[in-house]
Amino acid sequence: MAKTKSFFFCSECGYQSSSWLGKCPECGKWNTFTEEVVQAAKSPLVTAKSRSGITSTKPKLIHEVSTNETVRIPTGCAEFDRVLGGGIVPGSLLLLGGEPGIGKSTLLLQTALAIPGKRILYVSGEESEQQIKMRADRIMQSGEVCQGECFVVSETVTQRIFEHVDEVHPDLLIVDSIQTICTENIDSSAGSISQIRECTAEFQRYAKENAVPVLLVGHITKDGNLAGPKVMEHIVDCVLQFEGDRNYGYRLLRSLKNRFGSTAEMGIFEMLGDGLRQVSNPSEFLLSQRDENLSGCSVAATLEGARPMFIEVQSLVSSAVYGTPQRNANGFDFRRLSMLLAVLEKRCGFKLAAKDVFLNIAGGIRVNDPAIDLAVACSILSSNVDIPISPRYCFAAEMGLSGEVRPVSRVEHRISEADRLGFEKIFVSKYNTKGVVKKRFGIDIVEISVIEEAFRALFA
Ligand code: TYD
Ligand code: MG
Repeated sequence: MAKTKSFFFCSECGYQSSSWLGKCPECGKWNTFTEEVVQAAKSPLVTAKSRSGITSTKPKLIHEVSTNETVRIPTGCAEFDRVLGGGIVPGSLLLLGGEPGIGKSTLLLQTALAIPGKRILYVSGEESEQQIKMRADRIMQSGEVCQGECFVVSETVTQRIFEHVDEVHPDLLIVDSIQTICTENIDSSAGSISQIRECTAEFQRYAKENAVPVLLVGHITKDGNLAGPKVMEHIVDCVLQFEGDRNYGYRLLRSLKNRFGSTAEMGIFEMLGDGLRQVSNPSEFLLSQRDENLSGCSVAATLEGARPMFIEVQSLVSSAVYGTPQRNANGFDFRRLSMLLAVLEKRCGFKLAAKDVFLNIAGGIRVNDPAIDLAVACSILSSNVDIPISPRYCFAAEMGLSGEVRPVSRVEHRISEADRLGFEKIFVSKYNTKGVVKKRFGIDIVEISVIEEAFRALFA
């Protein structure tokens, strides 16, 4: 009879302790410890080894290690490939996180159906085979066919999943979701920290020993972290996050960690009635169609990874009804908005302290690129003076604390995209245009060094 032991785990970061603690020494969170019974039935490492029958490996000289075998598997979806850095690396372990109902299962099932010429095993611990089939029928309504061989099974125990794997010999294993899977080696309930950690480790061993990539789905907690899995994030090779505003149909796929590619890239999808569609030109939906000139709107030329995105910024400035003016930012950092308002007030003399300011980034998208600053400042000024900015103007610059307009990265890339999209003018920092051959572009490049210059050019 194996010895039963119980441990306490922090539900935030997975820290393990033999006694209950009020505050986690690892992550500093309070009241996060839960007791879990851990029964070490047999050493899991030995089990996994004997299962795969692996023999020992020897150290090799680095130039002798052949990389020919590591041909990436293209997913058949350009947006997904872009985020992965060009396809799935054999033997890698990927984690896809996201809020419930955001479309993780849809994305993975769609991927499973779209990868050409491969055997795929889709394991679901959440849905039955019938439910998966119903979803697949929905996705393939538009006359598409399954490109490879896709096997589905509803299963929650890792040992049995590996039995199915031995039968099917897949080229890719998909597991939806890690929180519903448990291993017989540990005697705690599915979704607990020790189960998640052990199951992830088992899938990792399987992936590395058989050179089969494994894609895991992970749930995220209320505050947006992957549930339980700080422990998982260290084990997996790649952490992808699927996010989006539920009120809009757009979904963003970002990579938070990627051992085989850049984390700057982003994939954009649209959720339709028959599954997810790739969006290759995001500026189309981010620029709302407006004909009349409305004050308070401006367009920012931002970059997400290597991809230019033109985003519409809208603001509304009105006299405050209450003593304390209201400020609200949607899709933009609230503190950054406060900073921009303080700069406009203090450095440039615009009286905004007694005004309510509301800011909205169109399309329900969150941008991290600081190049959006100038567009935000100009849209606030436009609403303040109630003079519209032409929809054919765009902005790409960061703002400094003294009201100076600062350079941004890869400005030439932004200018050429603005030119391609048919903008008339782009406002950039004066210090940003060294080496930019202006004659190459049809677009008028307006160089400014302080915010007042933009104000004069736009509203004087
Ligand atoms: P799902 O992939 O089940 O989300 P997750 O696995 O992340 O929990 O997606 C569920 C949502 O997607 C659901 O609210 C309905 C919507 N949806 C569509 O709009 N169109 C479709 O073709 C599919 C399959 C789902
Ligand atoms: Mg799901």
